[in-house]
Amino acid sequence: MSASFAQVLVAREEIETGVSRLGREIAETYRGVPGEVVLVGVLKGSAVFLADLARAIPLDLTIDFISISSYGGDASGSGVVRIVKDLEQDISGKHVVVVEDIVDTGLTLTYLRKTLGARSPATLRTVTLIDKAARRLLPVPLEWRGFEAPDAFLLGYGLDYRGIYRNVPDLIAVPDVARLALHPRSLVEELYPAQ
Ligand code: PRP
Repeated sequence: MSASFAQVLVAREEIETGVSRLGREIAETYRGVPGEVVLVGVLKGSAVFLADLARAIPLDLTIDFISISSYGGDASGSGVVRIVKDLEQDISGKHVVVVEDIVDTGLTLTYLRKTLGARSPATLRTVTLIDKAARRLLPVPLEWRGFEAPDAFLLGYGLDYRGIYRNVPDLIAVPDVARLALHPRSLVEELYPAQ
């Protein structure tokens, strides 16, 4: 399946297989280990992945969410961020698994690890669906990754373009973002024409 300016990078069946594998690996890490496991979803991109991943982990666990936002202006892209919505639970003494849809420059995850690490969790690990390792600016620990991705703009399965396309079930690569900017709402119809 492909449109003229976008391709399916990871199809939904392959995502499902990858998420199952990650769920098994995470469960093996914590099985028999005392203490509560908390999945921390980073809104909004990780919501779709987290929903599938949580159901692929055969352990008792809880789910919480955090939302952070980059400061605009001169600090944009510098990794300077603020918490828009904080966790609802105290994570001290708990096994925290940060759930990301994508790790790109590593700035977001670096900030999250510092912020959450200061709250004395028993352990702090990260799972990401997509690792864009080639774009990393800061080295950051990443315990589990689903897929390595090239340096193309991605959307679908939680990832957005200006807030849309998060509900697309496959992971789509858009090398020509300029064309998407011209026709921001045309992609779904091109990729998934009505039967
Ligand atoms: C994305 C993604 C990560 C971050 C990774 O969030 O969910 O949190 O970017 O990028 P980095 O490694 O370069 O810091 P985004 O800011 O797009 O917000 P969203 O999840 O609400 O789409």
